[in-house]
Amino acid sequence: MEQDIANLETEITAEIAAAADLAALEGIRVSSLGKKGRVTGLMKGMGKMTPDERREMGPKLNGLKVTIAAVIAARRDVLDGEALNARLTSETLDMSLPPVPRAMGTVHPISQVMDEIAEIFASLGFDVAEGPDLEDDFHNFTALNIPPEHPARQMHDTFYLRPDANGERKLLRTHTSPVQIRTMIAQEPPIRIIAPGRTYRSDSDATHTPMFHQVEGLVIDKSTHLGHLKGCLEAFLKAFFEVDAVTLRFRPSYFPFTEPSMEVDVKCSFKGGTVKIGEGDDWLEILGCGMVNRKVLEACELDPEIYQGFAFGCGIDRLAMLKYGMNDLRAFFDADGRWLKHYGFKAFDAPTIAGGLSR
Ligand code: PHE
Repeated sequence: MEQDIANLETEITAEIAAAADLAALEGIRVSSLGKKGRVTGLMKGMGKMTPDERREMGPKLNGLKVTIAAVIAARRDVLDGEALNARLTSETLDMSLPPVPRAMGTVHPISQVMDEIAEIFASLGFDVAEGPDLEDDFHNFTALNIPPEHPARQMHDTFYLRPDANGERKLLRTHTSPVQIRTMIAQEPPIRIIAPGRTYRSDSDATHTPMFHQVEGLVIDKSTHLGHLKGCLEAFLKAFFEVDAVTLRFRPSYFPFTEPSMEVDVKCSFKGGTVKIGEGDDWLEILGCGMVNRKVLEACELDPEIYQGFAFGCGIDRLAMLKYGMNDLRAFFDADGRWLKHYGFKAFDAPTIAGGLSR
C-alpha cells in the first residue's frame, strides 16, 4: 500500500509537469482527485482495512491528496501565466498609430476661429470667461443699463421661455454682454477677459441665423482708456487676419452699456466677389465697442470713481466668413459633410501664435 501511494505520487506528478495546457491539467485533476480518480480509488480501499492499518495509512493517503492538489495548483499558475503572455503577444494594439484617415472628421470653422481668438487674446493676457446660454432679465438687460421700457429690448428680438412658478421669464441670451456682468460681480478688477459663445435672436436670412456666435471682451482697471481699446482691437485684428496692416474706422454709435460707444469697420476690398482684408477702399462693419457705462459698473457694485474700462462685442460667424471666404452664413449650421470636408480644419493642427493660426 505504501508503495502504491509512492508510485501514484511519482506518476501523477510527472503527468502534471508534462501537462501542456490548462485543459490537459484539468484532465489530470479529474483522473486523480475526481470521484472516480486514482487517489480517490485508493482512499475507498481504506474501508477494507483493519483499524490499525487505517490509522497508519489514513494520514498518508490524505497527504497524497494534499500534495497532488498543491502540485496541480502550482502548475495551473504557471500555465495561466503562459496563456496570458501568449495573448499579450498575439493581441497587439499600437496606440501610436493615427486613426484611419477616412474616419477622421474636421474641426468646424467656427470652432477653429474661436480657438484662434482665444489664442490671440491669451497672448495679450486675457482669460476666457463663460456664462449660461439661458439668461435672466437682470444679466441680459437690466444690469447692462437696458431697463424694461428701453427700446433696445425690441431691437434684440429676444426668445423668451414660459414664466416659471415665480413668474420669472428666462430668455436665451441675445448677446455675450451678460458675461461682462457675471464677471464684474464675481471678481475684483483688474479684469481682462474674453467670453466667446452662442447667442440667440429671432432672425433668419443669408446673414442672420437664430443662433449665432459672439465674442465679448472686457477690460476693467483704474486707468484703462479708449487708446487701450483701439490698440487692443488693432493687435487682435492684425493677428487674426494674419496681415501686417489693418486699417480700422471707429464710427460713433450707441449702446446702452457703453459711453462713448463706437462701431468698428475694417478696410477691405470686395472686388471679384470675395472680401480681402488689408487692401481696397471698402469698409465692412465687424464689431461694437465702447467705454463701460458707469451705470453698468454701479450695477455690479464697482465704484466708477475708481474703476473704468472698455468692452467690445464681435460676431464670430462674420469673422469666420471674412477670413475663410464663405458667403452664406446658413451653411455653417447645415451639417453638410461635404461642406465640412471642404472648409473644416485638421483636428491635429491646433492654432498657435508660434506655429501659425491657420494653414
Ligand atoms: N452686445 C452688443 C451687441 O450684441 C455688442 C457690444 C458689446 C457693444 C460690448 C459694445 C460693447 O450688439
